[in-house]
Amino acid sequence: MQVTMTVNDEEITREIEGRLLLVHFLRDHLQLTGTHWGCDTSNCGTCVVWLDGEPVKSCTVLAAMAGGHEVRTVEGLEQNGELDPIQRGFMECHGLQCGFCTPGMMMTSRALLDRNPDPSDEEIREAISGQICRCTGYATIVRSIRWAAAEQAGTRTTAEEPERTVAPADRHQQSVASAQGSTS
Ligand code: FES
Ligand code: FES
Repeated sequence: MQVTMTVNDEEITREIEGRLLLVHFLRDHLQLTGTHWGCDTSNCGTCVVWLDGEPVKSCTVLAAMAGGHEVRTVEGLEQNGELDPIQRGFMECHGLQCGFCTPGMMMTSRALLDRNPDPSDEEIREAISGQICRCTGYATIVRSIRWAAAEQAGTRTTAEEPERTVAPADRHQQSVASAQGSTS
């Protein structure tokens, strides 16, 4: 069957099997490997993308169901060469360790800040409660999202600066790649 959808502002049409999941369509047909595939049982949340602006676990959606709709992936967070504040927050506050959960965390938290620009820690934790960080880095993930909220509100102060550790250059490059969704 043929499916047409908009992915990161680009209309695409592909021939697919009806049983194909959206996560596999994005990764295998469009090579958008920033969206990760983890549990395949709707538990981990690493596969979260937006469908018409709402976060969805793309392992629970058939690609055919996304036909006629707008999909945004982590690769589509960056606009005009500028990282989204959420992406910068995860880099600044070390919100990722291995980076496996990061794309889903960022898509969920970007959606949270769009509807609630100044969430409490409790609201942040509630928003990401459907997602698992196997590295258990929840404290820095919450701090990253708070950093992004303050950054986009223009209220970030030095008191909110993260404690810095000196990261090797390759670790920094890995953070940039994960935040951009250019890892697989
Ligand atoms: S792969 Fe979709 S929730 Fe884990
Ligand atoms: S950073 Fe490793 S799973 Fe979250």
